[in-house]
Amino acid sequence: MFLYRKSQKINLSNNKLIHHKYIRVYRWNPHLQQKPWFSIYPISTKNCGPMLLDALIQIKSLQDSTLTFRRSCREGICGSCSMNIDGTNSLACLKPLSNEGKFITVYPLPHMYVIKDLVVDLTNFYSQYKSIKPWLVNKTNSIKELLQSKKDRMELDGLYECILCACCSASCPSYWWNQETYLGPAILLQAYKWIVDSRDHMTAERLNFLNHKIRLFRCHTIMNCSKTCPKNLNPGKAISNIKQNILHH
Ligand code: SF4
Ligand code: SF4
Ligand code: FES
Repeated sequence: MFLYRKSQKINLSNNKLIHHKYIRVYRWNPHLQQKPWFSIYPISTKNCGPMLLDALIQIKSLQDSTLTFRRSCREGICGSCSMNIDGTNSLACLKPLSNEGKFITVYPLPHMYVIKDLVVDLTNFYSQYKSIKPWLVNKTNSIKELLQSKKDRMELDGLYECILCACCSASCPSYWWNQETYLGPAILLQAYKWIVDSRDHMTAERLNFLNHKIRLFRCHTIMNCSKTCPKNLNPGKAISNIKQNILHH
């Protein structure tokens, strides 16, 4: 590991470096009395797994145990390893090193409070998630399995796959500036999932809660959210569907 200095020159003409990449990582440690800085870590793609997360894990194991990031599943399922990679919010475990250039720059998710290095504080994000009552409310009190028609089940496609990684919310300018009140694309997509679930009996209450000039209507349909989603979901469309539902309810 070495700290980045502007004057630093790395000789890329050396043949030995042909399989090398350089991972430039934003660093910040609240316990050090210093401003954020960058660390640059050389890695050899020959001796490393294929994804950016593999490189970060290798760096932490072999070069710098102080580097801090979240990860769990390494399969794009848990949503923990979200970060800003070369300017796009994405999941490190789904980013192949081979698709990136010689230098890969990694920041934490933008416009979130940083706890340390690449770990951001998701307290507000999860309390917003809780506010939409993310559970099924079925008033029949049936103890039997709640079956759905194939058509009703298909309504959930493109919604149930959301892993709450927050990449979309952290790419949304409306969320950057109003995240105290605006729920943001991830939470709104989740809310829409419960609204269209044929087994749920709380649709009117859910729509009523969302019918708020900032909570929902601060979305200006800029669609950064849908462009960035690493699971190829379309939260922008889910938001406009909620607006339509409110209009026609
Ligand atoms: S919609 Fe996509 S980007 Fe947003 S939280 Fe869900 S999986 Fe992540
Ligand atoms: S469509 Fe709405 S939620 Fe998505 S980025 Fe734009 S303002 Fe944000
Ligand atoms: S480690 Fe779980 S989504 Fe990347």
